[in-house]
Amino acid sequence: MMKTAGFYSKDGRYYCEQLPLVELAEEYGTPLYVYSKNYLLNRYQELVKAVNDPQSLVCFAVKSNSNLAILQLLAREGSGFDIVSGGELARVLEAGGDPQKIVYSGVGKTRSEQRAALEAGIATFNVESFPEFKQLDQLAGELGLLAPVAIRVNPEVDARTHHKITTGKKENKFGIPLNLIEQAARQVVELDNLQFMGLHFHIGSQITSSDPFERLGQRAVDLLNRLETAGIEVKTLNIGGGLGVCYDQEETLTPERWLQAVRSQLGSFEGRLLIEPGRYLTAGAGALLTSVVYYKPSVNKNFAIVDAGMNSLLRPAMYDAYHRIVPAVERSQQPSRLDVVGPICETGDTLGKDRLMPPPEPGDCLAVLEAGAYGASMASQYNSFPRPAEILVDQTEVQLIRRPETYQDLWAKERLIEQ
Ligand SMILES: Cc1ncc(COP(=O)(O)O)c(C=O)c1O
Repeated sequence: MMKTAGFYSKDGRYYCEQLPLVELAEEYGTPLYVYSKNYLLNRYQELVKAVNDPQSLVCFAVKSNSNLAILQLLAREGSGFDIVSGGELARVLEAGGDPQKIVYSGVGKTRSEQRAALEAGIATFNVESFPEFKQLDQLAGELGLLAPVAIRVNPEVDARTHHKITTGKKENKFGIPLNLIEQAARQVVELDNLQFMGLHFHIGSQITSSDPFERLGQRAVDLLNRLETAGIEVKTLNIGGGLGVCYDQEETLTPERWLQAVRSQLGSFEGRLLIEPGRYLTAGAGALLTSVVYYKPSVNKNFAIVDAGMNSLLRPAMYDAYHRIVPAVERSQQPSRLDVVGPICETGDTLGKDRLMPPPEPGDCLAVLEAGAYGASMASQYNSFPRPAEILVDQTEVQLIRRPETYQDLWAKERLIEQ
């Protein structure tokens, strides 16, 4: 596998691997998600190297990008998967993922979702509440199976990231409170159809400093000791995902630094370490290509109105997220300030504010970078715009991994009423 930059600029044109983005946009139309296969695989190998332990496992967080081909590529590399729904389970199995490498989080697992996961034989249920233990135990008993369980801990660690992507604080809905972990573990051990595997943490996403992870490690070691005293062995420790990436100029942690922050606290723990990275693998592996529909100079602002909006990439509208936006082909005119906005009838439908770039012409292609995570997987048909196609680039080869939607796709599941 060749080391690749994924997306980069050369001689005034932006590329994915060896192909100019502008040519991809011409061939496949816009809006279009473009992924770099080799960037994704390199990132996966970086994580495997950083974990550096054959009994441990990288479980890709499917929610960050659930395209079947992306899952298939990672499955072929031997990756595990972190899922949060029956739909994600079905996707991973369809893509050839190994059920024994699947871990399943989520506060609202239904009976039918639990049943499907039990029948598939997944590695671990990350259980988030006492009622969930009860339901899982009962179901496993009915099926004559043993359900492997990790307790998702709410560690009361503030990841100091955007409030909508912080998950490890007391007021968040996730996990079991710290003071109830021993009681929860005892219950798992006592219930006939559950098997206690260990503890699970996930404190939030896009974390760029090591101290929240150090605090996670401290909480973990404290609980390991308490459970050991209670005679309960922790075989696996899942530290979740959350490793941040660079969207603008932010300093980020390397995978080694991330794992070191946690491991430095763990003392003599020799069990299995699981990680659930999503964004780190897929964010930089993808870009969203969009075409300028109009350039609209206005009284206080100038707007580049493009054919992708919050329907194609929700992150700026939902999390005030910043994405770099670059012309696929540079223009030589003087740059000016403009907002890049979509066609959706919502004021929040902005992809980028106050960007400095030469005024674009209708038809110009822009690339929204680092859009591979929580991009396509959060896309919608709001305002009845079809969702974008997705393509995968491997050096000079391209594969269509999701066809563009048609208007018929918009109402394919709807029915006119009968008179
Ligand atoms: C339980 C769980 N694990 C892993 C992740 C992946 O996080 P990230 O994409 O920040 O690595 C998430 C995302 O929110 C999550 O909820």
